[in-house]
Amino acid sequence: MKVLLLGSGGREHALAWKIAQSPKVEKLFIAPGNAGTSAVGENVSIKATDFPALKAFALEQKIDMIVVGPEDPLVEGIYDSFTGDASTQHIAIIGPTAKGAQLEGSKEFAKGFMERHGIPTARYKSITAANLDEGLAFLETLEAPYVLKADGLCAGKGVLILPTLEEAKRELEEMLGGMFGQASATVVIEEFLSGIECSVFVLTDSKNYKVLPVAKDYKRIGEGDKGLNTGGMGSVTPVPFADEVFMEKVRTRIIEPTIRGLQEENILYKGFIFLGLIRVKGEPMVIEYNVRMGDPETESVMLRIQSDFVELLEGVRDVNLDTKTLVMDPRTAACVMLVSGGYPEAYEKGKVMTGFEAAVATDSILFHAGTAMKDGQVVTNGGRVIAVCSYGETKEEALAKSYKVADMIHFDKKYFRRDIGFDL
Ligand code: AMP
Ligand code: GLY
Repeated sequence: MKVLLLGSGGREHALAWKIAQSPKVEKLFIAPGNAGTSAVGENVSIKATDFPALKAFALEQKIDMIVVGPEDPLVEGIYDSFTGDASTQHIAIIGPTAKGAQLEGSKEFAKGFMERHGIPTARYKSITAANLDEGLAFLETLEAPYVLKADGLCAGKGVLILPTLEEAKRELEEMLGGMFGQASATVVIEEFLSGIECSVFVLTDSKNYKVLPVAKDYKRIGEGDKGLNTGGMGSVTPVPFADEVFMEKVRTRIIEPTIRGLQEENILYKGFIFLGLIRVKGEPMVIEYNVRMGDPETESVMLRIQSDFVELLEGVRDVNLDTKTLVMDPRTAACVMLVSGGYPEAYEKGKVMTGFEAAVATDSILFHAGTAMKDGQVVTNGGRVIAVCSYGETKEEALAKSYKVADMIHFDKKYFRRDIGFDL
């Protein structure tokens, strides 16, 4: 079959790498892709949210399946757009409807959904300028630190955690006043939960589901989880604390009520559900839903999927995921993200990257995130540049391999965290 994958980050390179290994795939296109995806498929220069151009391309190339990497096309309704159009409704879209994508697109919707279906999550209140007083009063009932979340998509920047009540009150007013534009016209105030986090990825065909390898990501720029939030500085799978007892609770209290809840609310959902979980006193609670795979979790998760991934995606398309098998590699996989110096604040692009030859001779796998080809050379083209991923019998062994390769790849002002996995 012919597959079109949407997106351009490390997550998409990892998905492309895995999809391209399937004997079922005759041709893989990536729109728009990056320098890495062009090694496993053919990049097409179309934005992942340009539905008319994607439709024209999909028809011209006789695409059978579209796998959606990032959230934007989903929240903007790619599923509904393709399936609602007679000329493209035969193309399978791996991803939820626009309504389903509200689990990520609206924090208020996600919290309401969890409340309606008894899914464990932090206490909250949803506030707009019209009920600011209630918001200020709710903050008074909480203990520090205070969590404020912009309702809409903010490219991962919409969550503020504030140490004092004064700051929380001030920032709440700022957010409602347009700090994140329309995305923060509604703000969710949440009780702060304390515990260790992990990312659980569920693939569902709307009735059946499979739980993909559980991973942990490292979001802060600095070692010891200090400093500014980033898109993610590394990941490890499996997560030792997500053991059978914990995962049974996740299945019965979170995954199954989520899938049942979607059905009860008549929300068609055929794609990935990313559960951002936190373990509080041994119990799993939901911090957030995303409607896509995580980045950089996908980079290590794909290493641990031994089954034909496209066969699983066919199970989603045909609503018979229960007949497919998911075999996981028992080894650990770890990924270390190399970033441009200065990231997540201002950084430079266009730095020539060298050392690939040495890296290719190792058994680590490189997934490009922000790279581009320029005059026949690979250059940096983003904050997160490249993910170095490795297998190991232990987390230490996998990380040691990734760090060795991280040291072999050079570009001006390269930075990476040397403590990925420190808390596991
Ligand atoms: P994101 O939504 O991916 O930008 O990440 C927000 C991060 O903020 C999460 O990964 C958590 O670490 C943290 N966070 C969000 N909500 C809460 C909460 N209720 N309690 C504690 N930490 C939270
Ligand atoms: N790694 C977290 C995310 O993709 O949102």
